[in-house]
Amino acid sequence: MPHEVRGVVARSKGAQVAIETVVVPDPGPGEALVQVQSCGVCHTDLHYREGGINDEFPFLLGHEAAGVVEAVGEGVTDVAPGDFVILNWRAVCGQCRACLRGRPWYCFATHNAAQKMTLTDGTELSPALGIGAFAEKTLVHAGQCTKVNPAASPAAAGLLGCGVMAGLGAAINTGGVTRGDSVAVFGCGGVGDAAIAGARLAGAAKIIAVDIDDRKLEWARGFGATDTVNSRETDPVEAIRELTGGHGADVVVEAIGRPETYEQAFYARDLAGTVVLVGVPTPDMKIELPLLEVFGRGGSLKSSWYGDCLPSRDFPMLVDLYLQGRLDLDGFVSETIGLDEVEEAFGKMERGEVLRSVVNL
Ligand code: APR
Ligand code: ZN
Ligand code: ZN
Repeated sequence: MPHEVRGVVARSKGAQVAIETVVVPDPGPGEALVQVQSCGVCHTDLHYREGGINDEFPFLLGHEAAGVVEAVGEGVTDVAPGDFVILNWRAVCGQCRACLRGRPWYCFATHNAAQKMTLTDGTELSPALGIGAFAEKTLVHAGQCTKVNPAASPAAAGLLGCGVMAGLGAAINTGGVTRGDSVAVFGCGGVGDAAIAGARLAGAAKIIAVDIDDRKLEWARGFGATDTVNSRETDPVEAIRELTGGHGADVVVEAIGRPETYEQAFYARDLAGTVVLVGVPTPDMKIELPLLEVFGRGGSLKSSWYGDCLPSRDFPMLVDLYLQGRLDLDGFVSETIGLDEVEEAFGKMERGEVLRSVVNL
């Protein structure tokens, strides 16, 4: 029996989102039906609404979520009804070249649910990032569900499904921040602050936050920034060098996605330092770098995709660290809202008023 639930749908390019009745099928082989408890509002949802990702409208938005498995389809053994899970974008195949070489986060044969959720007139919905969790229930591939400790609040746990994982993972998994490192983070939105929290967790000795907004810099201190630089007032590269004894940072994370900050990030690294690019550029963006700068300074330039995370390894661990009081996930939740407030939350996000608005269901 299909389930009729309320969900936030983007009907056409640029149109405001609205609550619609969504028809969710019972799980087929390999699928899971999840009762969504919480879902964060992320920039990517807005990009979908604006047609910036693809034009497969209508979209069922929402992809940063936690909930409880209600039912599973044939052959599903890793999760069971009643499990508290965090949803991830795509189940990895385990068999492609990337998976076999131990880099499943680059898997090229990932899975989402095979069945489609629809509107009541039968129109098929495209779930954002293969999830579609601004809805009371959603249908995913069972491999998109990772069981975590149910003592965590759904709002906190859900954030690990996208933005917070992207930032934390950029520092820890991609950047390899380790005890005693100096770390600089450009951009202190949810992603940058998560990189700061990750750097603190990994034992960084100095964490320099760079932003153009003093309020953001203040929040960054709460997540572990030891120094802050307002790059509207101060040249951030010089400031970072000064704060690191003239050297530059061991690991620099760019969490904005602009050519000028990509460039600054590059110059802010120490000899053999690592630059991690998390901010998503637009297709037309370019930067120019003197090759001697690349060669002479050594080190590496890496991009970080979903924090190079392995959900089955990282989600349960990070939830445990949260429950031990060592990772402040609650600090990212600026407000909790209802499904009908997502459009308003987009505005607050664009104006930089919130780190995360989280829909509680
Ligand atoms: N210099 C320094 N900071 C800047 C600049 C700049 N030129 N321009 C913007 N910022 C700051 C903003 O003030 C804001 O605090 O960068 C931060 C960006 O944060 P958000 O807009 O909240 O974005 P967030 O959700 O953190 O995502 C950051 O990572 O995953 C990607 O797609 C995502 O590209 C985006 C980036
Ligand atoms: Zn997201
Ligand atoms: Zn694979």
